[in-house]
Amino acid sequence: MLNIVIFGAPGSGKGTNSALIVEAFKFDHISTGDVLRTEIKNGTELGKIAQAYIDHGNLIPDELMINILASKYDTLKDSKGVIFDGFPRTIAQAEALKKMLEERGEKISTMINLEVDESLLMDRLLRRATLEGRADDNEVTIKKRFEVYHSQTAPLIEWFKGEGLYKGIAYTEDMGIEGMANKIIEYIKTIV
Ligand code: AP5
Ligand code: MG
Repeated sequence: MLNIVIFGAPGSGKGTNSALIVEAFKFDHISTGDVLRTEIKNGTELGKIAQAYIDHGNLIPDELMINILASKYDTLKDSKGVIFDGFPRTIAQAEALKKMLEERGEKISTMINLEVDESLLMDRLLRRATLEGRADDNEVTIKKRFEVYHSQTAPLIEWFKGEGLYKGIAYTEDMGIEGMANKIIEYIKTIV
């Protein structure tokens, strides 16, 4: 089974590209952000805990997030490939993912970093806010999410490079959604 991490700053296109990869390869997709938003919508205990963090642009505690991820992963045993969108986001989560996969005879296949100029991201997210109304898509919370990304998540780039798993794909504005997705799909074709 392929285990592909889609990585990038808020608004870099993790969800958008994950959906297109899933369509192209019939893989499965775990978006930790979507999992948490569903829990919030359903008013579960987990949702109540998660909401306070998400609304302020902070990360949910690692241990909680790792347990959620593992139980979600275990529902996908027969999958051809799993896309991890929004996980790992800290070094502790990356180490936990590596260990969890090892325990199941699996490994991380690659990490794809969506390299998008940060000046484009705020506009993307504010535009999305008018379409989807996500609670954390307001200027104050988006800025906090960028801060958290830089302090806690971006260090993972070096971690993945150290593991020999890093693949950066750079976005230029002429590419649009389709051009970026095609570049990613072409790369995945080389590893399936
Ligand atoms: P999460 O839901 O993962 O949010 P995020 O990382 O901030 O990323 P987004 O979902 O906002 O952006 P995206 O990269 O998916 O971009 P998208 O494809 O939508 O996490 C939310 C919160 O949950 C976190 O802040 C945290 O609190 C919690 N959480 C989640 N995971 C966690 C974890 N592992 N540990 C702890 N806490 C966790 O694209 C954005 C917009 O751009 C769209 O409108 C899209 O149409 C447009 N767009 C995309 N690609 C292109 C393109 N190529 N050209 C033009 N426009 C494009
Ligand atoms: Mg997303």
